[in-house]
Amino acid sequence: MCGIIGFVGREQAAPILLEGLRQMEYRGYDSAGVAVRSREKGLQVRKSKGRLQVLADLTRGGADLEGCLGIGHTRWATHGEPNDVNAHPHVSSDGRIALVHNGIIENYLEIKEQLLNHGVVFTSDTDTEVVAQLLEFHYKECGSMLEAVGRVLRRIEGSYAFGIICADYPNALIAARKDSPLILGFGENGNFIASDVTAILRHTRDVVYMSDGEIAVLTADSADVFNHEMDPVVKEHSHVDWDAAAAEKGGYPHFMFKEILEQPDAIQKTVAPRIRENRVVLDGFRLTAEEAKNISRIYMIACGSAYHAGIVGKYVWERLLRRPVEVALASEFRYSQPLVDSRTLVIAISQSGETLDTMAALREAKRLGGRTLAVCNVVGSSIAREADDVLYTWAGPEIAVATSKGYSTQLAALDLIGLYLADLLGTVSPAEYGEILTELQRLPDKMRQYLTDYAGAQYFASRYFNHDSIFFIGRNLDYAMGLEGSLKLKEISYIHSEAYASGELKHGTISLIEPGTLVVALGTHAALFDKAMSNVVEVKARGAEVLAVTTETHRERMAKTADAVLSVPETHPLLQPSLGIVPLQLFAYYVALQRGCDIDKPRNLAKSVTVE
Ligand code: F6R
Repeated sequence: MCGIIGFVGREQAAPILLEGLRQMEYRGYDSAGVAVRSREKGLQVRKSKGRLQVLADLTRGGADLEGCLGIGHTRWATHGEPNDVNAHPHVSSDGRIALVHNGIIENYLEIKEQLLNHGVVFTSDTDTEVVAQLLEFHYKECGSMLEAVGRVLRRIEGSYAFGIICADYPNALIAARKDSPLILGFGENGNFIASDVTAILRHTRDVVYMSDGEIAVLTADSADVFNHEMDPVVKEHSHVDWDAAAAEKGGYPHFMFKEILEQPDAIQKTVAPRIRENRVVLDGFRLTAEEAKNISRIYMIACGSAYHAGIVGKYVWERLLRRPVEVALASEFRYSQPLVDSRTLVIAISQSGETLDTMAALREAKRLGGRTLAVCNVVGSSIAREADDVLYTWAGPEIAVATSKGYSTQLAALDLIGLYLADLLGTVSPAEYGEILTELQRLPDKMRQYLTDYAGAQYFASRYFNHDSIFFIGRNLDYAMGLEGSLKLKEISYIHSEAYASGELKHGTISLIEPGTLVVALGTHAALFDKAMSNVVEVKARGAEVLAVTTETHRERMAKTADAVLSVPETHPLLQPSLGIVPLQLFAYYVALQRGCDIDKPRNLAKSVTVE
């Protein structure tokens, strides 16, 4: 999704802006642009459709643009096709105000109509240009940029993060946010705004998270933040632990590959600090036994892979807590009049912490009086800050659009919370509690063990990469894992793929199986292995080619029937998806590689979906 960076300081802004935009390329974009203010030339704007390199070539890496104050943007089109004109920054008619925007202005047509009646001429199809023109209108009216920004914010509806510069304010970078992330960063040679911390990690790790309704005015040495009533706000500074190298490829061919290999460390970082003296101790979430017993309903709300993590979580929690858990797609939950009250626990799962639907669902849950807990990876993200409690996954920056370590640390976090609640409720025996805890701590090593030899996944990818439709089947936790395996494959390789609960095959899907159809059969769940075998036999009888994923214990039996087998080490049955997902991620990765796909930036997708 769109990325924003802004800089005001003692260095030439344009190269800094371009480098920051490059760090945000992973988010997905279709055009890019920068605006820089120079003493001699006023506002200079360069923008272009396509890769950032086009913009870099256009400006000789930014060298052509003088000035130490500027804003930059990567756009992911919502209003108006991706082209040079619709790219940001947008400039007011008099050429004195430039603005970049993430989000959507919902009442832009109405405002545009009014401005047209005042004779304003528009050049683009975007909602953002309307804001630039409205800003000029109010600025002319009141003569103060800050006041004009305040007036604009009171007029517009929707979501936004803005970066604004004005030719009349040579030292001021203005920012504002509502429902779209924006941070302030403080460096030695100047100050920054950014929609994503990775954009400024090379310059600073000293940041301030802006809250909804706030406006900030930055100069090279100062930052003033105001609330929507223009009263000054004192903001707390945070230190970002991620280092710049963690967000670099570091010699790996793709971020996705690097991040798959980083999973054992990421799980270890998520789990180890939360286990003390053989008990789960959750830093960000504490309940009394009484509070836990008072919970009558549990929801997990999320999107995409995080939703799939929630489905695994449901199976695990229902086993451990002996009470129903509902997993809801955040985009559905928010409009479904959910049955949330003060006895409902709502878990919002989000790697980025900025997914708009998850955010809206969380707000709805809070409005209805539910107790909310966020499971997030990005510290200080909107969802993390708005939930009553937060448990961070410590996966480090995830750059590939398709999640891997984000998902597997979500599983680990849900395992921890599930154990914690089961202990409070007394629904898990001490022996099983101890066994799961021990296995949770062994997961990183078992995953490392698998990751020393994943040639099988690579080999089978080269054998099957040219199929055009692939089915994933499994039962229970294997089904939950199949949903994620299938999404991984389709999103990066563009092969049509569906995951089915094996028991459902006979109710319709089996008619799709014909000679040569590839079925990825998941049989890692020991208790249901025989059932998994029966389903393999069933699809083989219809001519399917079967690639099976099972545990080492069951490898031999599976190999007697399936055409190809990948096996992973065995762990506690409730944790098995954490290991089983790794060959599926690698299979998807290698299939996409064989097909020459843009693995880290699949078409049409964005890393953090901040629009509905
Ligand atoms: C798929 C993927 C997406 C995200 C989804 C939610 O590989 O990454 O499906 O899981 O967009 O994102 P977060 O977890 O940031 O809320």
